[in-house]
Amino acid sequence: MTYQVILPAAGQGKRMGAGKNKLLLTLNEIPVLIHTLKVFEEDEACDGIILAINPQDEMEFKALLKEHTINKVIELVPGGKERQHSIYHALKTVKTADVILVHDAARPFIRKEHIHRLTEKAEETGAAIIGVPAKDTMKKVQDGKVVETVERSSLWAIQTPQAFRISLLKEAYEQAEKDDFVGTDDSSLVERLGYPVAMVEGDYDNIKLTTPEDLFFAEAISKKRNS
Ligand code: CTP
Ligand code: MG
Repeated sequence: MTYQVILPAAGQGKRMGAGKNKLLLTLNEIPVLIHTLKVFEEDEACDGIILAINPQDEMEFKALLKEHTINKVIELVPGGKERQHSIYHALKTVKTADVILVHDAARPFIRKEHIHRLTEKAEETGAAIIGVPAKDTMKKVQDGKVVETVERSSLWAIQTPQAFRISLLKEAYEQAEKDDFVGTDDSSLVERLGYPVAMVEGDYDNIKLTTPEDLFFAEAISKKRNS
């Protein structure tokens, strides 16, 4: 069981408001980007990383890869306007792997055991995603008013990685491009073609660093992991 992974890293981190790509912010003196890359660098099942980057970050990213001896990056591709476009650019360069994972570079706490579970499921079924059951009561709201309380037991918060047979993900991305469809995750492109997607239960601490308070949560998660 091996896989390749696409890491979209070409965002601007607007909601983080750090004035630069949030992936360059540090946790324990190491950039978030490197924390995420190291998980895959150190996983023997990973046989290649494709990194989508903003060309203005290229020099800095390349220097970091060298400094932290990240050797598995086989392609650096320019990102696109939206995350989906960045991933599509990366996907076009993938030739070999049976299973391809897509993982947000902004989720540094992904665990190897979950990566392996997803890879196995995707080999078996074609597509598998990770997430956690919703904890809060969920309501549908429109114009400041509650429309309905949504049945929580069937709702999950979806994370990355998402794992796919390569042929399936390529088909889904090509069709989305033709239809001008932009989804908020990779699985939604596959779902709309009618393919089944398996759900793997993950960890609540596989957070995406999105807004400034996530940095405090991230410090706490690192402390817990290192204790
Ligand atoms: N990403 C990307 N290309 C884009 C937009 C996002 O590769 N055009 C990447 C980000 O670098 C990040 C992941 O997709 O690793 C998830 O996106 P998000 O958390 O939204 O990050 P940003 O787009 O950087 O943040 P924001 O939306 O606040 O600007
Ligand atoms: Mg974004």
